[in-house]
Amino acid sequence: MEKVLIIGAGGQLGSELTSALCDQHGNDAVIASDLHETAKSKFDYCRFQQLDVMDNDSLKKLIKSESITQIYHLAAVLSAVGEKKPLFAWQLNMESLLSILEIAKESNLDKVYWPSSIAVFGPNTPKTNTPQFCVKEPNTVYGISKQAGERWCQYYFEKYGVDVRSLRYPGLIGYKSLPGGGTTDYAVDIFHKAIEGETFECFLDKDSYLPMMYMPDAIKATLDIMNAPRESVKIRSSYNLSAMSFSPKELFEAIQTEIPEFSILYKPDFRQEIADSWPDSVDDSHARLDWGWNHQFGIKEMTRDILVNLPNFQF
Ligand code: SER
Repeated sequence: MEKVLIIGAGGQLGSELTSALCDQHGNDAVIASDLHETAKSKFDYCRFQQLDVMDNDSLKKLIKSESITQIYHLAAVLSAVGEKKPLFAWQLNMESLLSILEIAKESNLDKVYWPSSIAVFGPNTPKTNTPQFCVKEPNTVYGISKQAGERWCQYYFEKYGVDVRSLRYPGLIGYKSLPGGGTTDYAVDIFHKAIEGETFECFLDKDSYLPMMYMPDAIKATLDIMNAPRESVKIRSSYNLSAMSFSPKELFEAIQTEIPEFSILYKPDFRQEIADSWPDSVDDSHARLDWGWNHQFGIKEMTRDILVNLPNFQF
C-alpha cells in the first residue's frame, strides 16, 4: 500500500492536490504537512503534521515512522518573493530538494514528485511555442533554483535510480487558495477583485502573454505523470506542460463578458521584467506523446467555472 506525504500542502497546489490524492489512495494513506500549523484547518479529511522541510532530522523521522512511499515536495519560494529574498529562496528551494532526493536514495521511497516551472526559461529562450529542449538562461532566483533542481532530479534518476517525476507548470489558476507570491498570480487575484466589485490594479502590462493552466488540469497532469508506468516517463528533468496562453487584457475581457461593470488599471511593476523573460506559450508535445497528457480547460470555461464557484468558497 502506498503512503503519501505532501510537503507544503497548505499552498496553492497542495490545497487541491491533497484531496485528489486522498481520493486516489484513501484518506488514511495521505499525510498533509506544512511549515504553518494554521494550514491544518484545510485538512479535516486527512492527517496533518506540522513540518519544517529544512529540519532534516524531523523529515527523516516522519518518513521512517510512517513508512512513507511517495513524497510530493511542493514547498518553495515563488518568483516575485524570491526576488525580494534571493539567498533565502535559493537555500529553501535547493536544500529541501537535495535532502529529499538523498532520503529517496537511501530509503525505499517508491516515487518523488517535484514541481518545476516555466521560470526555467529566460530572455534568450524562444518565446513562442517554447520547445522542451532549448536555451535556458533564467534570470530570477526562482528560475535558477528550478533549473538547477531539474538537473539534480535527472542526476538522481540516472545515478541512483530515484524515480523522481516533474512538470514545468505554467501559471496556475485556482479559486480555493489566495495568491502566493508568483508573477502569474495576477490571474488569481483578478477574480477576487471582480467578485468584490473592485477595480483591479494589474501589476503586468495589458499585452503580457503568459502560459497558464486552470487548477483541475494541473491536478490531472500531476496525477497522470505520477500514475504513468516508469518507462513512459522518458524525460527525467521536467516536462513542458501547456493548456492556454493569454494576456491580462484577454483575461479581463473574459471576466467582463460575465461581469460587464468590471474595470482594470494597468500598473506594471518589477514583476513585468520577470514576465518578459518567460515564454508566451509552450510546446508540450513530449508530455502528450509520452504519457498521454491532454488539457480540458480554456480561458472561457475556466472563467465561468471560477466566477460560479468562488463566491461560495470559504477560506
Ligand atoms: N507561478 C510561478 C510564479 O509566478 C511560476 O511557476 O512564480
